[in-house]
Amino acid sequence: MTNKFDINNTFDPDKEDQAPKISKEITTKLPTAAKGVDHYLRRTDTDPKAARRAEIQVATLFGASSFFTLVFLVSFVAIPREKKIAVSLIGVTGGQNLVLGVSFGFAILLIGIGAIHWAKKLMSDVEVVQERKEIKPADDVQQEALDAFRVGAEESGIGQRKLIRRSLLGALALFPLPFVVMLRDLGPSPKGELRETAWEEDLHIVTDITYQKIRPEDIPVGNLVSAMPENILEIQEEEQNLNERGKSAILLVRMRPEEIKSQQGPDWDYQGIVAYSKICTHVGCPIALYEQRTHHLLCPCHQSTFDLADSGQPIFGPAARRLPQLAITVDEEGYLIARQGFQEPVGPSFWERGA
Ligand code: FES
Repeated sequence: MTNKFDINNTFDPDKEDQAPKISKEITTKLPTAAKGVDHYLRRTDTDPKAARRAEIQVATLFGASSFFTLVFLVSFVAIPREKKIAVSLIGVTGGQNLVLGVSFGFAILLIGIGAIHWAKKLMSDVEVVQERKEIKPADDVQQEALDAFRVGAEESGIGQRKLIRRSLLGALALFPLPFVVMLRDLGPSPKGELRETAWEEDLHIVTDITYQKIRPEDIPVGNLVSAMPENILEIQEEEQNLNERGKSAILLVRMRPEEIKSQQGPDWDYQGIVAYSKICTHVGCPIALYEQRTHHLLCPCHQSTFDLADSGQPIFGPAARRLPQLAITVDEEGYLIARQGFQEPVGPSFWERGA
């Protein structure tokens, strides 16, 4: 099927000077032009200098995207993770995270803006309609689709506009690299680090918000309290990170002593209060959804469910390992304390746990 633009507007592909970007051959293969829709040529359709300017702008945007991708890559290796910087409105934050986020965001944004600018200024903007075809296309229709694809490619000007093509290819070639370098964050294995938490013998258990010591009577049957070791703030201050806080987080749950079916050690509860690591053994989400009637603890990330009345065993979901239990008792003043540190590594199970 051969089509002509018969719309009553200013565009006539037969006049070379009015259709500088679209060859006659291409226009004859386009779908039927939308009837009754006025079409106005853009400045870039008629002024080669304006078109060239737009081309340079698009290439600059793609080039800037490449620049920010390079900033991302360099920052990933050059900025120490521990480096903190103060930013107004945000406060003190990780320098590397901030630069990675900003540079990656700009890398994506600039490719998007460049593509939009290219489409608006340089690609063909002729209004067209395309009739619906049967679901199974005939051979000639398939050929038409291929032609339309070729026409689209030619209309975009990617063949002729070397500057845009090269800058876009450069930006797209660099763009996947951040995903590759981020694989580094999958390692190294923490090995023994997950065996060591802040918990040790006689440390008081405090709430994770007010840091008040806890008495057994503060926890009614059926209640759950998120808690920390009493020295957690000092450790945070000293290490300038939240690693210990993440590893040492626990949950205290109180049930009737006769409801406890099993524990990870003899009498590790105190009057029905049991303490378990708050970090899911699947991939490490913090857990706090407790169903007091069944004593089940549900991880919100992938729905692993642990039975706190039965040694914290997983009973549903992807977690394959029980939640580590902390043995507790009270000091002479009646405050809850740890009897010892965790006896098993806390957190995700996919690491090498034999170290
Ligand atoms: S992190 Fe808890 S189920 Fe996946």
